[in-house]
Amino acid sequence: MGKLAITGGTPLRKKRFDAWPMYTEKERQALEDVLTNHNWGGQPFPGKHADAFCKKFAELHTAKYGQCVNTGTVAIQAALKAIDIRPGDEVIVPAYTWEGTVGPVLLVNAVPVFVDVDPDTYCLDARLIEQAITPKTKALLPVHLGMRFADLDEIMRIAAKHKLKVIEDCAHAHGGMWRDKGAGSTGDLGAFSFQSSKLITSGEGGAVITNNLEYHERVQTYINAGRASVTDKFHHRIIGFNYRLGEFQAAVLGAQLERLPDQAKVRQTNMGYFESRLRNTRGIGLLKPEPRITRLAPYGYVMKYFADQVNDIPRSAFVAALQLEGIPCDGLFYEPVYKSSLFPLDPNDYPALSWGRAKPLDLRSMYQCPVSERAAYHEAIWFSHHLFLGGKENIDSIADAILKVLENIEELLGLEHRAIKAQTLSRADRES
Ligand SMILES: Cc1ncc(COP(=O)(O)O)c(C=O)c1O
Repeated sequence: MGKLAITGGTPLRKKRFDAWPMYTEKERQALEDVLTNHNWGGQPFPGKHADAFCKKFAELHTAKYGQCVNTGTVAIQAALKAIDIRPGDEVIVPAYTWEGTVGPVLLVNAVPVFVDVDPDTYCLDARLIEQAITPKTKALLPVHLGMRFADLDEIMRIAAKHKLKVIEDCAHAHGGMWRDKGAGSTGDLGAFSFQSSKLITSGEGGAVITNNLEYHERVQTYINAGRASVTDKFHHRIIGFNYRLGEFQAAVLGAQLERLPDQAKVRQTNMGYFESRLRNTRGIGLLKPEPRITRLAPYGYVMKYFADQVNDIPRSAFVAALQLEGIPCDGLFYEPVYKSSLFPLDPNDYPALSWGRAKPLDLRSMYQCPVSERAAYHEAIWFSHHLFLGGKENIDSIADAILKVLENIEELLGLEHRAIKAQTLSRADRES
Protein backbone atom coordinates (compact mmCIF):
# COMPACT_ATOMS: atom_id res chain seq x y z
CA MET A 1 0.00 0.00 0.00
CA GLY A 2 1.37 3.39 -1.02
CA LYS A 3 0.71 6.97 -0.04
CA LEU A 4 -1.25 7.80 -3.17
CA ALA A 5 -4.97 6.98 -3.26
CA ILE A 6 -4.44 5.06 -6.49
CA THR A 7 -2.03 2.70 -4.70
CA GLY A 8 -4.25 2.31 -1.62
CA GLY A 9 -3.49 5.49 0.38
CA THR A 10 -5.99 8.03 1.70
CA PRO A 11 -7.37 10.48 -0.89
CA LEU A 12 -6.27 14.03 -0.26
CA ARG A 13 -9.74 15.42 -0.87
CA LYS A 14 -12.87 13.62 0.28
CA LYS A 15 -15.43 16.37 -0.27
CA ARG A 16 -16.95 16.67 -3.73
CA PHE A 17 -16.71 19.98 -5.54
CA ASP A 18 -20.02 21.81 -6.01
CA ALA A 19 -21.95 20.46 -8.97
CA TRP A 20 -22.14 22.22 -12.32
CA PRO A 21 -24.43 23.57 -13.70
CA MET A 22 -25.56 25.63 -10.72
CA TYR A 23 -28.79 27.56 -10.31
CA THR A 24 -30.54 29.86 -7.87
CA GLU A 25 -34.06 31.05 -7.23
CA LYS A 26 -33.62 33.36 -10.27
CA GLU A 27 -33.68 30.44 -12.70
CA ARG A 28 -36.76 29.03 -10.95
CA GLN A 29 -38.61 32.34 -11.18
CA ALA A 30 -37.65 32.85 -14.80
CA LEU A 31 -38.86 29.35 -15.69
CA GLU A 32 -42.11 29.97 -13.92
CA ASP A 33 -42.55 33.19 -15.81
CA VAL A 34 -42.29 31.32 -19.12
CA LEU A 35 -44.58 28.56 -17.90
CA THR A 36 -47.34 30.92 -16.90
CA ASN A 37 -47.12 33.46 -19.73
CA HIS A 38 -47.83 30.80 -22.40
CA ASN A 39 -45.10 32.04 -24.76
CA TRP A 40 -42.91 28.97 -24.89
CA GLY A 41 -41.68 29.10 -28.47
CA GLY A 42 -38.30 30.08 -29.84
CA GLN A 43 -36.96 33.46 -30.74
CA PRO A 44 -37.82 35.50 -32.72
CA PHE A 45 -41.45 34.41 -32.69
CA PRO A 46 -42.22 35.70 -30.00
CA GLY A 47 -39.37 35.03 -27.52
CA LYS A 48 -39.36 37.75 -24.85
CA HIS A 49 -36.68 35.99 -22.80
CA ALA A 50 -34.53 34.96 -25.78
CA ASP A 51 -34.73 38.44 -27.21
CA ALA A 52 -33.74 40.12 -23.93
CA PHE A 53 -30.98 37.58 -23.28
CA CYS A 54 -29.46 37.89 -26.71
CA LYS A 55 -29.37 41.68 -26.60
CA LYS A 56 -27.55 41.59 -23.25
CA PHE A 57 -25.27 38.79 -24.37
CA ALA A 58 -24.26 40.71 -27.51
CA GLU A 59 -23.69 43.87 -25.45
CA LEU A 60 -21.47 42.05 -22.97
CA HIS A 61 -19.35 40.99 -25.93
CA THR A 62 -19.33 44.46 -27.51
CA ALA A 63 -21.32 43.26 -30.53
CA LYS A 64 -24.34 44.97 -32.07
CA TYR A 65 -26.41 41.90 -32.84
CA GLY A 66 -27.04 38.56 -31.21
CA GLN A 67 -29.20 35.59 -32.13
CA CYS A 68 -29.98 32.58 -29.97
CA VAL A 69 -29.83 29.16 -31.58
CA ASN A 70 -30.29 25.69 -30.21
CA THR A 71 -26.64 24.48 -30.02
CA GLY A 72 -23.10 25.72 -30.44
CA THR A 73 -22.57 23.52 -33.49
CA VAL A 74 -25.56 25.15 -35.13
CA ALA A 75 -24.13 28.55 -34.17
CA ILE A 76 -20.98 27.74 -36.17
CA GLN A 77 -22.99 26.37 -39.07
CA ALA A 78 -25.22 29.48 -39.14
CA ALA A 79 -22.13 31.70 -39.05
CA LEU A 80 -20.69 29.78 -42.03
CA LYS A 81 -23.97 30.34 -43.89
CA ALA A 82 -23.89 34.03 -42.93
CA ILE A 83 -20.56 34.56 -44.68
CA ASP A 84 -21.81 32.49 -47.59
CA ILE A 85 -19.45 29.55 -47.34
CA ARG A 86 -20.18 27.47 -50.42
CA PRO A 87 -19.61 23.80 -51.23
CA GLY A 88 -15.92 23.25 -51.95
CA ASP A 89 -14.71 26.36 -50.06
CA GLU A 90 -11.88 25.76 -47.62
CA VAL A 91 -12.05 26.85 -44.00
CA ILE A 92 -8.96 26.87 -41.81
CA VAL A 93 -9.51 25.30 -38.38
CA PRO A 94 -7.19 24.42 -35.49
CA ALA A 95 -6.29 20.75 -35.23
CA TYR A 96 -6.70 20.74 -31.44
CA THR A 97 -10.36 21.39 -30.64
CA TRP A 98 -13.66 19.63 -30.15
CA GLU A 99 -15.04 17.86 -33.21
CA GLY A 100 -17.96 20.29 -33.00
CA THR A 101 -15.81 23.05 -34.50
CA VAL A 102 -15.21 21.00 -37.62
CA GLY A 103 -18.50 19.11 -38.14
CA PRO A 104 -20.38 22.22 -39.32
CA VAL A 105 -17.73 22.91 -41.97
CA LEU A 106 -18.22 19.43 -43.40
CA LEU A 107 -21.98 19.65 -43.11
CA VAL A 108 -22.09 22.65 -45.45
CA ASN A 109 -19.93 20.55 -47.83
CA ALA A 110 -16.91 22.78 -47.32
CA VAL A 111 -13.42 21.43 -46.63
CA PRO A 112 -11.74 21.87 -43.23
CA VAL A 113 -8.01 22.56 -43.44
CA PHE A 114 -6.26 21.72 -40.19
CA VAL A 115 -3.52 23.96 -38.85
CA ASP A 116 -1.48 23.22 -35.74
CA VAL A 117 -1.85 25.14 -32.48
CA ASP A 118 0.56 27.46 -30.71
CA PRO A 119 2.41 25.70 -27.86
CA ASP A 120 1.99 28.81 -25.66
CA THR A 121 -1.82 28.92 -25.93
CA TYR A 122 -3.00 25.64 -27.52
CA CYS A 123 -5.02 27.87 -29.90
CA LEU A 124 -4.66 28.14 -33.69
CA ASP A 125 -1.05 29.10 -34.45
CA ALA A 126 -1.31 32.26 -36.54
CA ARG A 127 2.29 31.78 -37.77
CA LEU A 128 1.19 28.66 -39.67
CA ILE A 129 -1.95 30.03 -41.29
CA GLU A 130 -0.54 31.61 -44.43
CA GLN A 131 1.11 28.42 -45.64
CA ALA A 132 -2.29 26.67 -45.48
CA ILE A 133 -4.10 29.30 -47.58
CA THR A 134 -5.05 28.28 -51.13
CA PRO A 135 -7.22 30.00 -53.77
CA LYS A 136 -10.17 28.09 -52.27
CA THR A 137 -9.70 29.41 -48.72
CA LYS A 138 -12.64 31.57 -47.68
CA ALA A 139 -12.52 31.75 -43.91
CA LEU A 140 -10.53 31.29 -40.73
CA LEU A 141 -12.24 29.59 -37.81
CA PRO A 142 -10.06 30.09 -34.72
CA VAL A 143 -11.15 28.61 -31.39
CA HIS A 144 -10.47 30.44 -28.14
CA LEU A 145 -9.61 27.21 -26.43
CA GLY A 146 -9.66 26.49 -22.71
CA MET A 147 -8.32 29.66 -21.14
CA ARG A 148 -6.62 31.55 -23.95
CA PHE A 149 -7.55 33.43 -27.11
CA ALA A 150 -6.16 32.68 -30.54
CA ASP A 151 -3.94 35.61 -31.58
CA LEU A 152 -6.67 37.80 -33.02
CA ASP A 153 -4.25 40.60 -33.96
CA GLU A 154 -2.41 38.33 -36.36
CA ILE A 155 -5.53 36.49 -37.49
CA MET A 156 -7.28 39.74 -38.45
CA ARG A 157 -4.15 40.98 -40.22
CA ILE A 158 -3.91 37.78 -42.29
CA ALA A 159 -7.66 37.81 -42.98
CA ALA A 160 -7.49 41.39 -44.29
CA LYS A 161 -4.44 40.63 -46.44
CA HIS A 162 -6.05 37.56 -48.06
CA LYS A 163 -9.66 38.83 -48.02
CA LEU A 164 -10.86 36.07 -45.72
CA LYS A 165 -13.69 36.10 -43.22
CA VAL A 166 -13.18 35.21 -39.57
CA ILE A 167 -15.57 33.23 -37.38
CA GLU A 168 -14.50 32.98 -33.74
CA ASP A 169 -15.52 29.74 -32.04
CA CYS A 170 -16.20 31.11 -28.57
CA ALA A 171 -17.64 27.95 -27.02
CA HIS A 172 -15.04 28.34 -24.24
CA ALA A 173 -14.93 32.12 -23.95
CA HIS A 174 -18.22 33.53 -22.61
CA GLY A 175 -17.53 37.00 -21.26
CA GLY A 176 -13.87 36.94 -22.30
CA MET A 177 -12.22 40.04 -23.74
CA TRP A 178 -9.33 40.58 -26.12
CA ARG A 179 -8.00 44.14 -25.98
CA ASP A 180 -11.31 45.14 -24.34
CA LYS A 181 -13.38 43.71 -27.19
CA GLY A 182 -15.70 40.89 -26.30
CA ALA A 183 -15.04 37.37 -27.55
CA GLY A 184 -16.67 36.98 -30.95
CA SER A 185 -16.78 40.67 -31.83
CA THR A 186 -13.33 41.14 -33.36
CA GLY A 187 -13.95 38.67 -36.19
CA ASP A 188 -16.94 38.79 -38.54
CA LEU A 189 -19.04 36.58 -36.26
CA GLY A 190 -18.72 34.80 -32.94
CA ALA A 191 -20.33 31.44 -32.20
CA PHE A 192 -21.12 30.34 -28.63
CA SER A 193 -22.38 27.12 -27.05
CA PHE A 194 -24.58 26.86 -23.95
CA GLN A 195 -24.22 23.09 -23.62
CA SER A 196 -24.26 21.97 -20.01
CA SER A 197 -20.52 22.09 -19.27
CA LYS A 198 -20.18 25.66 -20.52
CA LEU A 199 -19.65 28.89 -18.55
CA ILE A 200 -23.31 29.69 -18.83
CA THR A 201 -25.71 27.00 -19.83
CA SER A 202 -29.27 26.04 -20.57
CA GLY A 203 -28.44 22.35 -20.99
CA GLU A 204 -28.20 22.90 -24.74
CA GLY A 205 -28.18 26.16 -26.64
CA GLY A 206 -26.03 28.55 -28.60
CA ALA A 207 -25.73 32.10 -29.90
CA VAL A 208 -24.23 33.94 -32.85
CA ILE A 209 -23.06 37.51 -32.41
CA THR A 210 -21.87 40.00 -35.03
CA ASN A 211 -21.53 43.70 -35.77
CA ASN A 212 -22.78 43.21 -39.32
CA LEU A 213 -26.53 43.49 -39.90
CA GLU A 214 -26.44 41.54 -43.13
CA TYR A 215 -24.76 38.58 -41.44
CA HIS A 216 -27.23 38.83 -38.58
CA GLU A 217 -30.13 38.69 -40.99
CA ARG A 218 -28.67 35.69 -42.77
CA VAL A 219 -28.29 33.89 -39.45
CA GLN A 220 -31.89 34.71 -38.55
CA THR A 221 -33.37 33.37 -41.75
CA TYR A 222 -31.19 30.23 -41.71
CA ILE A 223 -32.11 29.26 -38.16
CA ASN A 224 -35.77 30.08 -38.65
CA ALA A 225 -36.44 27.66 -41.54
CA GLY A 226 -35.92 30.35 -44.16
CA ARG A 227 -38.38 32.90 -42.82
CA ALA A 228 -37.58 36.59 -43.14
CA SER A 229 -35.29 38.06 -40.51
CA VAL A 230 -36.75 40.52 -38.02
CA THR A 231 -35.27 43.58 -39.78
CA ASP A 232 -35.14 42.11 -43.32
CA LYS A 233 -33.22 44.98 -44.90
CA PHE A 234 -31.33 42.62 -47.22
CA HIS A 235 -34.23 40.29 -48.09
CA HIS A 236 -32.25 37.10 -47.66
CA ARG A 237 -34.09 33.80 -47.58
CA ILE A 238 -31.92 30.80 -46.80
CA ILE A 239 -33.11 27.23 -46.67
CA GLY A 240 -32.46 26.04 -43.17
CA PHE A 241 -34.13 24.12 -40.39
CA ASN A 242 -35.80 25.20 -37.21
CA TYR A 243 -32.74 25.82 -35.07
CA ARG A 244 -34.49 28.21 -32.68
CA LEU A 245 -33.95 28.23 -28.93
CA GLY A 246 -37.06 27.74 -26.78
CA GLU A 247 -38.09 30.23 -24.13
CA PHE A 248 -37.49 27.91 -21.15
CA GLN A 249 -33.83 27.68 -22.08
CA ALA A 250 -33.57 31.39 -22.78
CA ALA A 251 -35.06 32.14 -19.36
CA VAL A 252 -32.40 30.03 -17.67
CA LEU A 253 -29.69 31.76 -19.69
CA GLY A 254 -30.94 35.19 -18.64
CA ALA A 255 -30.47 34.27 -14.98
CA GLN A 256 -27.05 32.73 -15.64
CA LEU A 257 -25.79 35.72 -17.59
CA GLU A 258 -26.32 38.01 -14.60
CA ARG A 259 -23.85 35.93 -12.59
CA LEU A 260 -21.21 35.58 -15.29
CA PRO A 261 -19.15 38.76 -14.65
CA ASP A 262 -18.87 38.04 -10.90
CA GLN A 263 -18.00 34.42 -11.54
CA ALA A 264 -15.35 35.50 -14.05
CA LYS A 265 -13.70 37.59 -11.30
CA VAL A 266 -13.71 34.69 -8.84
CA ARG A 267 -12.23 32.31 -11.41
CA GLN A 268 -9.58 34.80 -12.42
CA THR A 269 -8.51 35.39 -8.80
CA ASN A 270 -8.52 31.69 -7.98
CA MET A 271 -6.57 30.75 -11.08
CA GLY A 272 -3.99 33.42 -10.26
CA TYR A 273 -3.59 31.94 -6.78
CA PHE A 274 -3.43 28.42 -8.21
CA GLU A 275 -0.60 29.46 -10.51
CA SER A 276 1.26 31.11 -7.63
CA ARG A 277 1.22 27.71 -5.90
CA LEU A 278 2.46 25.74 -8.89
CA ARG A 279 4.91 28.06 -10.62
CA ASN A 280 8.36 26.46 -10.97
CA THR A 281 7.11 22.99 -10.03
CA ARG A 282 9.11 20.22 -11.68
CA GLY A 283 6.93 18.31 -14.15
CA ILE A 284 4.37 21.10 -14.49
CA GLY A 285 4.24 23.97 -17.02
CA LEU A 286 1.86 26.91 -17.03
CA LEU A 287 0.51 28.47 -20.22
CA LYS A 288 2.23 31.74 -21.07
CA PRO A 289 0.42 34.80 -19.68
CA GLU A 290 -1.35 36.85 -22.37
CA PRO A 291 -1.77 40.53 -21.45
CA ARG A 292 -3.99 41.16 -24.50
CA ILE A 293 -6.70 39.09 -22.77
CA THR A 294 -8.29 41.87 -20.75
CA ARG A 295 -10.96 39.68 -19.17
CA LEU A 296 -10.22 36.03 -18.54
CA ALA A 297 -13.12 33.69 -19.30
CA PRO A 298 -11.71 30.24 -18.77
CA TYR A 299 -13.87 27.26 -19.73
CA GLY A 300 -11.12 25.10 -18.33
CA TYR A 301 -7.88 25.64 -16.50
CA VAL A 302 -5.30 24.08 -18.79
CA MET A 303 -1.75 23.28 -17.73
CA LYS A 304 1.13 21.22 -19.11
CA TYR A 305 2.60 18.02 -17.77
CA PHE A 306 6.17 17.10 -18.67
CA ALA A 307 6.66 13.36 -18.23
CA ASP A 308 10.36 13.62 -19.09
CA GLN A 309 10.91 15.66 -15.91
CA VAL A 310 9.27 13.07 -13.66
CA ASN A 311 10.69 9.61 -14.40
CA ASP A 312 8.75 9.32 -17.67
CA ILE A 313 5.54 8.54 -15.82
CA PRO A 314 2.89 8.90 -18.55
CA ARG A 315 0.27 11.59 -18.25
CA SER A 316 -2.46 8.94 -18.10
CA ALA A 317 -1.06 7.68 -14.77
CA PHE A 318 -0.54 11.17 -13.37
CA VAL A 319 -4.10 12.25 -14.25
CA ALA A 320 -5.64 9.02 -12.95
CA ALA A 321 -3.73 9.44 -9.68
CA LEU A 322 -5.03 13.00 -9.33
CA GLN A 323 -8.58 11.85 -10.00
CA LEU A 324 -8.32 9.28 -7.23
CA GLU A 325 -7.03 11.99 -4.87
CA GLY A 326 -10.49 13.54 -5.38
CA ILE A 327 -9.64 16.08 -8.09
CA PRO A 328 -11.72 15.83 -11.29
CA CYS A 329 -9.49 16.46 -14.31
CA ASP A 330 -8.79 15.07 -17.74
CA GLY A 331 -5.80 14.52 -20.01
CA LEU A 332 -7.17 13.25 -23.31
CA PHE A 333 -9.87 15.91 -23.29
CA TYR A 334 -9.57 16.55 -27.02
CA GLU A 335 -7.76 14.72 -29.79
CA PRO A 336 -6.39 16.35 -32.92
CA VAL A 337 -9.71 16.27 -34.76
CA TYR A 338 -8.24 14.51 -37.81
CA LYS A 339 -7.28 11.60 -35.51
CA SER A 340 -10.74 11.22 -33.98
CA SER A 341 -12.91 8.21 -34.66
CA LEU A 342 -15.06 10.42 -36.94
CA PHE A 343 -12.49 9.81 -39.63
CA PRO A 344 -11.94 8.49 -42.25
CA LEU A 345 -15.09 9.89 -43.86
CA ASP A 346 -16.99 8.31 -46.71
CA PRO A 347 -16.24 10.77 -49.54
CA ASN A 348 -19.67 10.05 -51.04
CA ASP A 349 -21.17 11.86 -48.07
CA TYR A 350 -18.85 14.86 -48.40
CA PRO A 351 -18.50 15.34 -52.16
CA ALA A 352 -16.30 18.45 -51.95
CA LEU A 353 -13.49 16.25 -50.64
CA SER A 354 -13.22 14.79 -54.16
CA TRP A 355 -13.82 17.84 -56.32
CA GLY A 356 -10.92 18.69 -58.62
CA ARG A 357 -8.73 15.93 -57.20
CA ALA A 358 -7.54 12.59 -58.52
CA LYS A 359 -8.34 11.00 -55.14
CA PRO A 360 -10.67 12.24 -52.37
CA LEU A 361 -8.89 13.99 -49.52
CA ASP A 362 -8.27 11.60 -46.65
CA LEU A 363 -8.45 13.99 -43.72
CA ARG A 364 -7.25 11.33 -41.32
CA SER A 365 -3.93 10.54 -42.93
CA MET A 366 -2.93 13.81 -44.59
CA TYR A 367 -2.12 15.81 -41.45
CA GLN A 368 0.53 15.75 -38.78
CA CYS A 369 0.30 18.56 -36.27
CA PRO A 370 2.99 17.88 -33.67
CA VAL A 371 1.94 20.47 -31.08
CA SER A 372 -1.68 19.31 -31.16
CA GLU A 373 -0.62 15.68 -30.93
CA ARG A 374 1.69 16.39 -28.01
CA ALA A 375 -0.99 18.41 -26.20
CA ALA A 376 -3.65 15.78 -26.83
CA TYR A 377 -1.71 12.61 -26.04
CA HIS A 378 1.04 13.65 -23.62
CA GLU A 379 0.99 17.14 -22.23
CA ALA A 380 -2.27 19.00 -21.58
CA ILE A 381 -4.28 18.57 -18.38
CA TRP A 382 -7.74 20.12 -18.13
CA PHE A 383 -9.61 21.15 -14.98
CA SER A 384 -13.21 22.32 -15.33
CA HIS A 385 -13.92 25.99 -14.64
CA HIS A 386 -16.36 25.20 -11.86
CA LEU A 387 -13.58 23.86 -9.60
CA PHE A 388 -12.36 27.46 -9.47
CA LEU A 389 -15.61 29.01 -8.26
CA GLY A 390 -15.31 28.09 -4.59
CA GLY A 391 -13.06 29.32 -1.81
CA LYS A 392 -9.29 29.21 -1.40
CA GLU A 393 -9.46 25.79 0.31
CA ASN A 394 -10.70 24.29 -2.96
CA ILE A 395 -7.77 25.71 -4.86
CA ASP A 396 -5.34 24.56 -2.19
CA SER A 397 -6.74 21.05 -2.42
CA ILE A 398 -6.08 20.92 -6.18
CA ALA A 399 -2.54 22.28 -5.80
CA ASP A 400 -1.83 20.02 -2.79
CA ALA A 401 -3.05 16.97 -4.69
CA ILE A 402 -0.78 17.78 -7.64
CA LEU A 403 2.20 18.19 -5.31
CA LYS A 404 1.33 14.99 -3.45
CA VAL A 405 1.24 12.97 -6.68
CA LEU A 406 4.50 14.51 -7.86
CA GLU A 407 6.20 13.79 -4.52
CA ASN A 408 5.14 10.14 -4.71
CA ILE A 409 5.41 9.73 -8.45
CA GLU A 410 7.58 6.61 -8.21
CA GLU A 411 4.48 4.73 -6.95
CA LEU A 412 3.08 5.09 -10.46
CA LEU A 413 5.96 3.30 -12.16
CA GLY A 414 4.51 0.42 -14.20
CA LEU A 415 1.16 0.70 -12.38
CA GLU A 416 -1.95 -0.73 -14.05
CA HIS A 417 -5.36 0.63 -13.05
CA ARG A 418 -8.78 1.04 -14.63
CA ALA A 419 -8.56 4.83 -14.29
CA ILE A 420 -5.21 4.86 -16.09
CA LYS A 421 -6.62 2.76 -18.93
CA ALA A 422 -9.60 5.14 -19.24
CA GLN A 423 -7.14 7.99 -19.76
CA THR A 424 -5.74 6.31 -22.85
CA LEU A 425 -9.15 6.41 -24.57
CA SER A 426 -10.79 9.47 -26.08
CA ARG A 427 -13.83 10.73 -24.17
CA ALA A 428 -16.14 9.37 -26.85
CA ASP A 429 -14.67 5.89 -26.45
CA ARG A 430 -14.66 5.68 -22.63
CA GLU A 431 -17.22 3.86 -20.53
CA SER A 432 -19.35 6.52 -18.86
C1 LIG B 1 -14.72 24.32 -28.95
C2 LIG B 1 -16.15 23.91 -29.18
N1 LIG B 1 -16.75 24.22 -30.34
C3 LIG B 1 -18.02 23.89 -30.59
C4 LIG B 1 -18.79 23.22 -29.66
C5 LIG B 1 -20.18 22.82 -30.04
O1 LIG B 1 -21.16 23.21 -29.15
P1 LIG B 1 -22.47 22.34 -28.89
O2 LIG B 1 -22.07 21.13 -28.11
O3 LIG B 1 -23.35 23.26 -28.12
O4 LIG B 1 -23.05 22.00 -30.21
C6 LIG B 1 -18.22 22.90 -28.43
C7 LIG B 1 -18.96 22.24 -27.33
O5 LIG B 1 -19.46 21.38 -27.05
C8 LIG B 1 -16.86 23.22 -28.18
O6 LIG B 1 -16.26 22.91 -27.02
